[in-house]
Amino acid sequence: MIALCTGIEVAYDDVGAGEPVVFLHGFPHNRTLWAPQTGALVDRSRCIAPDLRGFGGSSVAPPFSIDQYADDVVALLDALRIERAVVAGLSMGGYVAFALWRRHRARVRALILADTRPGPDSDEARQKRRELIALARAKGSSAVAESMIPGMVGKSTREKNAGLVDAMYQMMQNAPVDGVVGALEAMIARPDSAPTLPTIDVPTLVVVGEEDALTPVSEARAMHAAIPSSRLEVLAGAGHVSNFERPAAFNHVVSEFLGMLQYA
Ligand code: MLT
Repeated sequence: MIALCTGIEVAYDDVGAGEPVVFLHGFPHNRTLWAPQTGALVDRSRCIAPDLRGFGGSSVAPPFSIDQYADDVVALLDALRIERAVVAGLSMGGYVAFALWRRHRARVRALILADTRPGPDSDEARQKRRELIALARAKGSSAVAESMIPGMVGKSTREKNAGLVDAMYQMMQNAPVDGVVGALEAMIARPDSAPTLPTIDVPTLVVVGEEDALTPVSEARAMHAAIPSSRLEVLAGAGHVSNFERPAAFNHVVSEFLGMLQYA
């Protein structure tokens, strides 16, 4: 489906009924990252998965910033007449979830922070992103996908599930170059969300793949320690895209968390 939000077209899936959950994809993904969740959780939740601007079927239009992505999500909630939703963000989607909390916390019922980190980029990380921008402009998204795929999925997936690695590669290489560049610039400029963590007072689930090399378990443990009402789940055999690599395990911990929310 397509909604007109903040002057752009936002493509999204909206399936199921019950407590609304908004799923925010990482970089350079699109909403199909969440297909294993939206397909499985429809019986218990209304699952909404947008393409962030610049990705999937959404408009490739500036401005690109983490705050703008968050404002786009709220515009979509407005269009769908949803007052509050559980916000689930993976990696870059987690950065957007932090911004949503800072800017629109009344709209956030609970948080699911998957394979993400609160800290800003180091100087070295910024330099790597600038190199990735140059690569995207010179050689396109397939070159970006090629360079990122080894870190994106875990060792177990790389060794045992070539089909899943290929599906992830295809998703990444389909990203529009201008969306990729915009997101990299947005991530370079993103603020430190560490001071945000102690302000989070809604139930929060932190999930991480045990083999996540990009946002490792140590990051997730520190995040869990800094967010008062949080729980932590570490998924064995999964890397950075833990929801995609171990969907059944991911859906299990998310279902349990959503089930607990009715008592929170
Ligand atoms: C992601 O999966 O969204 C990226 O790894 C985030 C990042 O590059 O910081």
